Amino acid sequence: MGLALVSGKSIYEKYCLTCHQADGGGVPNMNPPLIKTSYVLGNKIRLIKVVLNGFLENVDIDGESYSNVMPSHDFLKDQEIAAVLTYVRKNFTNKAGPVTAAQVKAVRATNKKKA
Ligand code: HEC
Repeated sequence: MGLALVSGKSIYEKYCLTCHQADGGGVPNMNPPLIKTSYVLGNKIRLIKVVLNGFLENVDIDGESYSNVMPSHDFLKDQEIAAVLTYVRKNFTNKAGPVTAAQVKAVRATNKKKA
């Protein structure tokens, strides 16, 4: 498959849908929605890091807390992470700009994991 044909929708359905649901609505108190959250619409570096590192901190997301844990998806290629985040940022009533593979690559290069 050529890089240009990487489909954000199919990556979402394979890796994200079980938790965040087909409509991006999440599961109350378990998995957060991806609809107009500050993470989805906000800083792209922070958003890319959620996918690379997973999300383990027990922090509130726009005032709610969620009991499940999101695993790291750093096995996905730069192009795949860019495609799935662009898909998320343009669906579920979200209207935000794309994430590029170059941006994912740059974040991955500086991404420091805790030792
Ligand atoms: C095993 C379930 C699971 C999978 C799979 C999963 N997530 Fe998550 N995700 C979560 C949970 C749970 C949180 C919040 C964790 C917390 O509050 O500590 C979260 C947080 C997030 C956040 C930040 C909070 C928000 O609601 O905006 C984003 C963005 C996100 N996930 C996107 C994705 C994407 C994109 C994928 C697929 C590549 C994915 N997730 C796969 C469970 C999952």
